[in-house]
Amino acid sequence: MQTHSQALTVNGLSHTYAGQPAVEGVSFHVAAGEIAALLGPSGCGKSTVLRAIAGLLPAKPGVISLGGRDISPLPGRERGIGMVFQNYALFPHMTVAENIAYPLSFRGWDRKRRQARVEELLATVQLGGLERRLPRQLSGGQQQRVAVARALAVDPALLLLDEPFAALDRALRLDLQIELVRLQQTLGITTVIVTHDQEEAQALASQLVVMNRGHIEQTGTPAEIYDHPASLFVNSFVGYAGKIRAVVESASAAGSTLKVSTGETLRLPRELRFAPGSPVVLTVRPERLSIVDRPSDFTLAGRLLVSTPLGPDVIRSIALADGTEIKLTEPRDLRRSPLESSAPLFIALDVVNLHVFPAGEAL
Ligand SMILES: Nc1ncnc2c1ncn2[C@@H]1O[C@H](COP(=O)(O)OP(=O)(O)O)[C@@H](O)[C@H]1O
Ligand SMILES: [Mg+2]
Repeated sequence: MQTHSQALTVNGLSHTYAGQPAVEGVSFHVAAGEIAALLGPSGCGKSTVLRAIAGLLPAKPGVISLGGRDISPLPGRERGIGMVFQNYALFPHMTVAENIAYPLSFRGWDRKRRQARVEELLATVQLGGLERRLPRQLSGGQQQRVAVARALAVDPALLLLDEPFAALDRALRLDLQIELVRLQQTLGITTVIVTHDQEEAQALASQLVVMNRGHIEQTGTPAEIYDHPASLFVNSFVGYAGKIRAVVESASAAGSTLKVSTGETLRLPRELRFAPGSPVVLTVRPERLSIVDRPSDFTLAGRLLVSTPLGPDVIRSIALADGTEIKLTEPRDLRRSPLESSAPLFIALDVVNLHVFPAGEAL
């Protein structure tokens, strides 16, 4: 099966439900054939953005273009977009074949042409032989594939998926994620997937659009977002980040001094863009911390609370002197003797990959 994939551009999209703004000034670009994830907590406006792109919400300020053409004035049916809804929204009294053929009847396709197309789509999503089943006679994963086949029926230039894996258990989810990526790559169709699951977004998408409270916090590749989070929100939402409160004492090109909530002083060999006296939050990824024997300019004293093995790694929960808890991961068998619980130790911060945010941002 071939598709004609096209680039998607969303520019200045806003939407208000009965006077309540849900989405404001949302702009992003998805290159042709690319898969992007709209990622954010429940209620942040992801589905609203998806529905606006699909033309399911009344036209509002903002431009949505597909393949360079402004599609915002077009009704949903004429936009060349296929959409899979959160609960799949299959018609319960229609067979698999009837569900898939539904959008084709609207286009005036005759029975024979519809049948051929349904067969082709069922083969694409590997559901051959199940055309006469009703949705309730299918597993969750199979229902999802029917919904994908129906979305692909009209040969869309863009595929939208709203939380496609939310209803499935974890083990099945991984299989279906791999299957979806394979299908997306085979078809080469531009795809936007909505999810509140940051691991899922990182696993599926080549571009993340991270949303919070109706606006975009950051867009970038999963690695860019993970390594260079633009805000404390992004830092905490995508992957784990330990948070340590501090006040900037001095900051110059020669180095910066921070007074930590524990009472300790950190001297970092880098400049910080904060005025002396600014309250800040330092964030540390668990894999960027290490346990060392001696204190230095960039260590903090800690006490081991608990160690949890996870595959080849061990995760250590550590309490700093003021009770602040942070996590540290390290390869499991590198240390010669196991660490005693409550053992005093020093945590070395990675001064390059340490992020510093204004303390005013919501934690
Ligand atoms: N039909 C609606 N009428 C009124 N408010 C809505 C409607 N749909 C969504 N909202 C509100 O808009 C905000 C964004 O919702 P939504 O786009 O569904 O978020 P998400 O998909 O990220 O969970 C939420 O505060 C939600 O309560
Ligand atoms: Mg939603």
